[in-house]
Order: sequence, then C-alpha cells, then structure tokens
Amino acid sequence: MTTTEPRTEQEILDRESMDDVDAIAAFNPDPEEVLHAVQDQADALFTWDYSKGSRPRLDKLYEKAKVSQWNAQTDLDWSIEVDPLQAFSIFTESSNVGTGHWTEHPDSPAKNWGDKEWDQFSIESFAWRLSQFKHGEQGALLCTAKIVETVPWIDAKYYAATQVVDEARHVEVFEKYIDEKIGVRYPVNPHLQLLLDDIINDSRWDMTYLGMQIMVEGLALAAFGLMHQVTTEPLLKKLLRYVMSDEARHVAFGVLSLQEVYQDMTAKEVRERQEFAFEAGIRMRDRLLQQEVWDRMGCDVKKAVEHGLNIPEDDQIFNQLLFSKIVPNCRKLGLLDAGDGWLREKYTEIGVIELEHLEDTGEEYSEFSIEDDQLASSSN
Ligand SMILES: [Fe+2]
Ligand SMILES: [Fe+2]
Repeated sequence: MTTTEPRTEQEILDRESMDDVDAIAAFNPDPEEVLHAVQDQADALFTWDYSKGSRPRLDKLYEKAKVSQWNAQTDLDWSIEVDPLQAFSIFTESSNVGTGHWTEHPDSPAKNWGDKEWDQFSIESFAWRLSQFKHGEQGALLCTAKIVETVPWIDAKYYAATQVVDEARHVEVFEKYIDEKIGVRYPVNPHLQLLLDDIINDSRWDMTYLGMQIMVEGLALAAFGLMHQVTTEPLLKKLLRYVMSDEARHVAFGVLSLQEVYQDMTAKEVRERQEFAFEAGIRMRDRLLQQEVWDRMGCDVKKAVEHGLNIPEDDQIFNQLLFSKIVPNCRKLGLLDAGDGWLREKYTEIGVIELEHLEDTGEEYSEFSIEDDQLASSSN
C-alpha cells in the first residue's frame, strides 16, 4: 500500500466509485476455508530502552489493564436461557432496518415480508452482527500481537501485550455466546476481511494502530454501546458491558500512541494516513450493508445493497452513530483537517462529519471501566 502520490478515490478503493454496487455486492466466501493467510511485511523490533513509564499515559493504561482482567468463563452467568427472537427483535426494530425504507418502499427486498420473515431476519441479522464482532475480535488479536512486535516503545509493548489477552477473551466470549445461545453463525464479511488483510499486510507499524485501534475498534465500541443500550437480554448486556470496558482502553491506546507519531510526519505521510482512514471508513460502511443476511433470506443481494446505499437522510442516524468514536478521534489526531482537509470532505460525503465534536476516546476510557465493587451490578 505504499504510495508516492495522493491516490484517487478509485485507486484507494480499487473500484469504479464509492457506491459501485456491483463491486460491493460481489462476494464469494469459501464455506470450506478454515485458515486464511495474510503476508505480514513488518520488522519485529527489539528495544534496549527498558525505561518503564517514559510515556506516562501509556504506562497508566498498562497498570489499569493489569487490574481490569475478567474471566469469560466464570464472570458471566452462562446458565441464563436466551430466547433469540425475544432478545433480538427489539434490536431490529430500533436499528435502521426497522424503518419504512425497508418495510414499505416499493424497491425494498423486504416489502412483502410478514411476521415470519421479519422474525427470521431478526435472528439472522443478530447472528450476523455477533459473528462479525467475533471475526473483528480475531483481527484485533492478530493486530495487537503484531503491535507487540513492531512498536518501538517499551511502554507500548507492555500495554499491547495486555490487549492480546483481552482480545483472546473477546473472541472466546462471542464464540461461546453464538455457540451456546444462538446456534446460527456467519463467515467473515468480505469487506471486513479486506480491511483486516490491509491492516496486517501494511509494513508501517502505525498503520496497524490506525486501522485497528482507531477504525475497527472505534466502530466496535460504538456498536457495543448501542447494542448494550437496546438489548434487554441480561447475559448479552453484561457481556457487552465487560467487553466495552476493555475496548475503551484499546481505542485510548491508539489515540495516545498516534498523537505522538503524527506530530513528526510529513504532509505526504499524513495524507497516506488520511487515505487509509477513508478506505477503512468505506469498508466498514459496506460491511454494515449485511449482504450475507439478505442472501440467506433469499433476496437479490445487488438490489438489497443498492437499497441500503439509498437510505434517506432521516433514517441514517443508526449508521452515523456507529462512527461516533471514529470521527472525533480522527479529529483529535489532526487527520480531518491536515493538508487541504481531504478527509473532512470525504467524511462529509458519507454523512458522518456531524459527529466530529463528540467526546474523543483519549481519556474517556475511565468512564467505561468496571471496578471490582461494580461487577455485580454491571448489567444495569
Ligand atoms: Fe476486542
Ligand atoms: Fe479491542
């Protein structure tokens, strides 16, 4: 992905245009695939500078992480029985798929659906969301292991090592929930896979942070928050609350590390980071179209994707909120307005720029933390 000149939108996305429906809808996951190999091109760095605490905010985060560990097997009550339909239909109603754009519009693939189809969709859509969370968590596991190797600072290596454990626990907990409580699963979404491959393949260590800690985990933190607010299923609610307390630290890790790195970059280097933040934003927007669910529901995927891209402005609030951590963090890092403000322009085009003044996550993580005496009541 190393570039010499600013790239065009087409070059960045490797397709005709941002809303190229054919390219977005084209997917052919191999259901038999068990292993997926990606070339990791970065150097593993030893450092002989062991001075702990030379980056005090990272050191504080590391100390916080050490006392915030929880156990996915024993800290959650797995005896709780879950009725998937009851648990998830409320989420469909409150998400952007519950609007007239999908239930009544003549072009909607779901316009003739009755209760039976909507019930099935609720379960499929929820299983899809949790499956993508799980795959994204594995991406975070691999990316953070990579950061342990590639970041040059000892405080960051220490912190990243705690995040590796966190991410292993997140993969474990989502898989357990899907396996024991839903029984419906989905392979990794092609747009998410594309993004994860790009992040791991990049040779520049700070790109791992930007792609994973800022973009993928920023979206995850917002998505977990929305789901936590809406769901009434007690096991999931508590599970999400625990995961969020970790994720807020992870996003803070990205913001605090990149602030320092970006200060010394040339305009050309910053532009490359802007392009990557745009590409990642589009990949995640594409992933939210949940094309595999429409496919499994027997709909024309291309039409569903097209309809999903044409959501009226008034109905876009749900997808916008998923960017509520990404945009303020990009602003805090100076990426929105660097150079000629190229990223601001792009985030305006995809309708998320309004979120720029929400709170960034550099320090916000303490609000998400779960103290020992709160563990018992964290489902509230
Ligand atoms: Fe995670
Ligand atoms: Fe994370």
